[in-house]
Amino acid sequence: MEHKEMLYVHPAPVRVWHWINAAGFIALIITGIQIRFAETVNMFSFENAVNIHNYVGFIVIGNFGLWLLFYFGTGKIRIYFPNPRTFLSNVIKQMQYYGYGIFKGDPNPHHMTPENKFNALQQKAYLGLMFLFLPTQMTTGLFLWDIKGFESYITMLGGIKVIDSIHVLLFFFFCAFMIVHAYLATLGATPLAHYKAMFTGYEEPH
Ligand code: HEM
Repeated sequence: MEHKEMLYVHPAPVRVWHWINAAGFIALIITGIQIRFAETVNMFSFENAVNIHNYVGFIVIGNFGLWLLFYFGTGKIRIYFPNPRTFLSNVIKQMQYYGYGIFKGDPNPHHMTPENKFNALQQKAYLGLMFLFLPTQMTTGLFLWDIKGFESYITMLGGIKVIDSIHVLLFFFFCAFMIVHAYLATLGATPLAHYKAMFTGYEEPH
């Protein structure tokens, strides 16, 4: 059986959330470029770009609800939280591995299990991503979608320029994140192992 030695690490709701989110981000980035650089970029009309950006934005927000529901509903959210006692030493080990050990063929210091599937660096990055950067991007996007309706919140947070700057800075962050994330995801047992796992749920151990 193909799945005999494989680890089941990504349950279906996580996989569905992840690929809708990834496709949504690609659409948001493309339409975001059109909106932001309307004078120089001519992929489609400004109006279409705004409409698609809004629809996809709401899909990504709704989809985040699926992620929240699954992880909090099952209690599996704890995999996102590092153990404070071992965290620092695990970060150092993982950095040594990516910076040096991986080029000598050393084994990965992190051994993936369904209860502990992220290495210390992934844990730190995904925690910030899912609890800070993604919610901030969704909230600022929502405010920009209905400036009048959210006027009091916008004023309280420093005005529309502040909200818009945060949204655009995070847009640049997410562009960079997706490149680094897609590259790091090739560092599994084989270059496509992590990708396959995000489709099938089963991860090949190193
Ligand atoms: C084309 C774009 C993307 C590709 C190719 C991609 C690929 C992958 C792969 C292969 C994994 C499994 C291996 C791992 O945990 O590193 C993964 C996990 C993950 N990705 Fe992505 N990703 C993309 C976009 C995104 C975006 C836009 C976000 C968030 C804004 C994101 C957040 C995550 C998170 C949080 C996980 C861990 C999920 C879990 O197991 O709970 N990814 N990604």
